[in-house]
Amino acid sequence: MEIDPNNISNPELHKLFLGGVAPRPIAFASTIDKDGNVNLSPFSFYNAYGINPTTLIFSPSRRGRDNTTKHTLENVKEVPEVVLNAVNYDMVQQMSLSSTEYPKGVDEFVKSGLTAIDSVKVKPPRVKESPLQFECKVRDIIEISGKAGSGNLVICELLYVHADENIFDENGNIHPDKIDLVGRLGGDYYVRTSGEAKFKVPKPITTLGIGVDSLPEEVRLSKILSGNDLGILGNIESLPNEKEIVDSMKNPLYRSLAKDETARHNYAKKLILENNLHEALKVLMLSSL
Ligand SMILES: Cc1cc2nc3c(=O)[nH]c(=O)nc-3n(C[C@H](O)[C@H](O)[C@H](O)COP(=O)(O)O)c2cc1C
Repeated sequence: MEIDPNNISNPELHKLFLGGVAPRPIAFASTIDKDGNVNLSPFSFYNAYGINPTTLIFSPSRRGRDNTTKHTLENVKEVPEVVLNAVNYDMVQQMSLSSTEYPKGVDEFVKSGLTAIDSVKVKPPRVKESPLQFECKVRDIIEISGKAGSGNLVICELLYVHADENIFDENGNIHPDKIDLVGRLGGDYYVRTSGEAKFKVPKPITTLGIGVDSLPEEVRLSKILSGNDLGILGNIESLPNEKEIVDSMKNPLYRSLAKDETARHNYAKKLILENNLHEALKVLMLSSL
């Protein structure tokens, strides 16, 4: 399917973004207007953009249907401060409720039943139930076009953090099971960071992998090994040498694997799953003898 963004409607484009740029973190933004009215709304066009100064950006878009602006945007123009509260699984329903299009001046803390507590450096209150709260000043607002559906980048500088001590592991890292954040997907879908949806991929920062291009052709063209298998093998730092492969032929199993590509690749896949990568490559290279 080929899509020219100029040939589809704005709602269709929006749907493509929501499903395809995902999962997205959620900023539960509390703001205040010049008269002191509090607002609380979630925004998943949100991320962090480096430290020094620590910069976070979220985007309250113009409404597609009538090109009006969201109260959150109006508030940060009046009082350039915001608390970006993280959203965990325990508060996902209340967060969703707060995204209801209540009239201006309605306090979504009250509507959603969440607790507003004073911030330290900024006027908008923070969400007590949130495990991680970022008090920020708004440095800049970039209005992308002013057209219906367009974004408004609210560029925030972090001033102060409140973190629940229970979200950290023994090494001081925030642990996904403990914080249990939720992320936004397309449609009505969300993802959470505990349970079976999560997995680990170690960062290749201390190793210099040989790369998939250095694997033998038979391995690269395997019908049994997946792209993930190749990525894992490409992360090892050297291939087994010929002597090791010759020696492994003393094993009757390996002598039979040398004659059967399908069995060889299936066996190697099992070894990859067990993280026995050097052995997996030895098996895969039996045919080179
Ligand atoms: C999980 C979630 C993420 C959302 N992300 C955005 C977003 O990134 N930008 C946006 O304009 N609206 C987003 N919305 C919709 C706003 O929260 C909604 O329009 C809200 O009523 C705006 O409130 P306000 O007018 O009080 O600022 C999101 C809603 C939910 C439930």
